[in-house]
Amino acid sequence: MAETTTASSPLQLRGGGSLRGSVQVPGDKSISHRALLFGAIAEGTTRIEGLLPAEDPLSTAACLRAMGVTVSEIRAGEPVTVQGVGLDGLQEPANVLDCGNSGTTMRLMLGLLAGRAGRHFVLTGDGSLRGRPMRRVGAPLAAMGAVIHGRKDGNFAPLAVLGQPLQGTTIETPVASAQVKSAILLAALTAEGPTTVIEPAQSRDHSERMLRAFGADLTVGGAGNTVVTLTPGQTLRGQSVVVPGDISSAAFWLVAGAITPGAALTVENVGLNPSRTGILEVLEQMGANITVINARDVAGEPVGDLQVSHGPLRAFEIGGDLIPRLVDEIPVLAVAACCAEGTSRIRDAEELRVKETDRLAVMARQLGAMGARIEEFEDGMTITGITELRGATVDSETDHRVAMSLAVAAGIAAGASQLHRPEAAAVSYPGFWDDLARLRQPAP
Ligand code: S3P
Repeated sequence: MAETTTASSPLQLRGGGSLRGSVQVPGDKSISHRALLFGAIAEGTTRIEGLLPAEDPLSTAACLRAMGVTVSEIRAGEPVTVQGVGLDGLQEPANVLDCGNSGTTMRLMLGLLAGRAGRHFVLTGDGSLRGRPMRRVGAPLAAMGAVIHGRKDGNFAPLAVLGQPLQGTTIETPVASAQVKSAILLAALTAEGPTTVIEPAQSRDHSERMLRAFGADLTVGGAGNTVVTLTPGQTLRGQSVVVPGDISSAAFWLVAGAITPGAALTVENVGLNPSRTGILEVLEQMGANITVINARDVAGEPVGDLQVSHGPLRAFEIGGDLIPRLVDEIPVLAVAACCAEGTSRIRDAEELRVKETDRLAVMARQLGAMGARIEEFEDGMTITGITELRGATVDSETDHRVAMSLAVAAGIAAGASQLHRPEAAAVSYPGFWDDLARLRQPAP
């Protein structure tokens, strides 16, 4: 399928044919960032197996190196080591910290750096990241005593952090966001007294799990695990971290396997943390043929292999507390909805408007160009199927998850598609186009 690509020419994607075989998706992006960050402020060495060798974690590693942390070279298939500098060991960087396209890097860095009293940091990123809201992190950190300046009253990067002594407090976050929660927890590590974060619904809990494993004093409670308290004073110790495959990357194969005639795929070693498995519940709701095999626990995170095959699908409805558990999978679920009988409804998903792109608008525009019947709302969309998609000229609009979702759609479309800016996929899944070419069975 992926015949040719350069940054300047669109990728030609053929429709028709099928998908067969096994695939190992790269390491979980959220867990990769956290392993680097927590390893950096621990005492001793952290060894990370399966770290995602993609642009976003590379941004986190580069920022940490600029503050004096030794992070070994990040190469696919090789373990990465981080020589921790301890909770107070980060040096003031001599230059601006570049977070690239990575919201997780910027938001978690704000939490990490806010309490470095007397040190000064400037964070920036690419055009997309400089347009994403940062006050959602800056405001709770300010309640702890942080001083963060930026454009539009501190909402947009470039952001300047003037490190301050911080005070532990109780913070109710208005959105269920693991980036916001994790930033507060990172700041709490060096604050005076305990800090409690209360979320409206539970977001992914990788920080809680990993901080505990590194030795932090952290409790989780409340209805639906929405209340997290961190009490500072513990020394974090370097750990051995095994990063499972990213369910958000597996999602492209799960949907492709479910909607592509004749498809049968196995996705190996996928992280199945319950705060991330909303996609499996929706695919089940749709009647997709998905089986979890070899369910196991790897370094504190549940993992399994997933088998998926093609079959008839029915429409789904999603909203409420489920959204944080599948927030990154909504673009590819929109593709699945085109192949499902009936009208699928996505509600309470306004967060998609502030991701790498406005994913509601971009998916409505790009899938619409392929003939999808989508109605867009402020907080979601409805998609009516079954629609036979047609090959078209489409554009990732620089968003990695849009690029891969459109590739899945192009695979079942009648006729060829041209995808502009396919290279965006490298933000989270650099081998995606190679895996697609390998799994693809040409039409007879
Ligand atoms: C992430 C949290 C989510 C997600 C992002 C990664 C994380 O963002 O969309 O891709 O690693 O904490 P929000 O926290 O903004 O929901």
